[in-house]
Amino acid sequence: VRQFLLRAGEMISAEEADRRVLAMKNPGTLETETARATDTLWAAVQLVMPGEVAPPHRHSPGALRLIVEGGGGYTVVNGSRVEMHAGDFLITPGGTWHEHGHDGSGPMLWLDGLDLPIVQSLHAVFADFDGGADLEAVPSRASALRAGTLAPVWRGAPQAPTLVWPIEDVEAAFADLAQEEGSPYDDLVVEYRDPTTNGAAMTTMGAQMQLLRAGAELESHRHTHSVVYHVVRGEGASNLGGEEFPWRQGDTFAIPSWVEHRHASTGDGDALLFSFNDKPAIELLKLDFERPGKDLYG
Ligand SMILES: [Fe+2]
Ligand SMILES: [Fe+2]
Repeated sequence: VRQFLLRAGEMISAEEADRRVLAMKNPGTLETETARATDTLWAAVQLVMPGEVAPPHRHSPGALRLIVEGGGGYTVVNGSRVEMHAGDFLITPGGTWHEHGHDGSGPMLWLDGLDLPIVQSLHAVFADFDGGADLEAVPSRASALRAGTLAPVWRGAPQAPTLVWPIEDVEAAFADLAQEEGSPYDDLVVEYRDPTTNGAAMTTMGAQMQLLRAGAELESHRHTHSVVYHVVRGEGASNLGGEEFPWRQGDTFAIPSWVEHRHASTGDGDALLFSFNDKPAIELLKLDFERPGKDLYG
């Protein structure tokens, strides 16, 4: 993915492309015009090179991002500027203006997750490309949210605060949880939650980070929500529907709805796995079912 994306970087600018992404097309999904990682989730890797700007736009599908490589990049969400560092997670909820830029050096890559297939199936895709440039950019961090926010009254109702979950907070959480037994299916796993709603990160999509400790061999299960995984570090293997898929740092893989799966870490150290899912949408529809594995694999 990285190799092809860097080649795309030589062929087209971020501004010309609007968004320079390579979308992942899962051959097992329904035949549609739009690439998709599962039948409900769109996944892509985006590249922004130093000095480039991906111009402002907004759309009804929501997007989440896990920064894969680089530093010095930023995203502006409804006027709030968020610095992007490898490992950080941030969201641009549906309808928010967003643009990306890069003041640092070296390529900036991140994983994009969108609920685009869900919104398409509801015939509710809208997009605007003019108007977002007038929003004033001000810094915003997750720590500001925990402390509460202050808004200048004379400017009218403020935009919703921008949410970002820095990788340092994730590592600190896993350090605190190191003595816990964890989940039988996912080992140590934390969900990115929205402190303003105490719910999932987004209306339709949730996201998690999990630490598979060295030697972890987890139990199998299946669920109606689908998941896209990205390997932040380490190596391991996931058995998906009876087939073994080895993975290592930088890989992305998908678990479609109701496919039985189990994970194992196979390297010397821990493995760190980011994932996003359509669980919040499935739960809103009261369609979330989960079953333990049937021990298909002996
Ligand atoms: Fe976008
Ligand atoms: Fe699972």
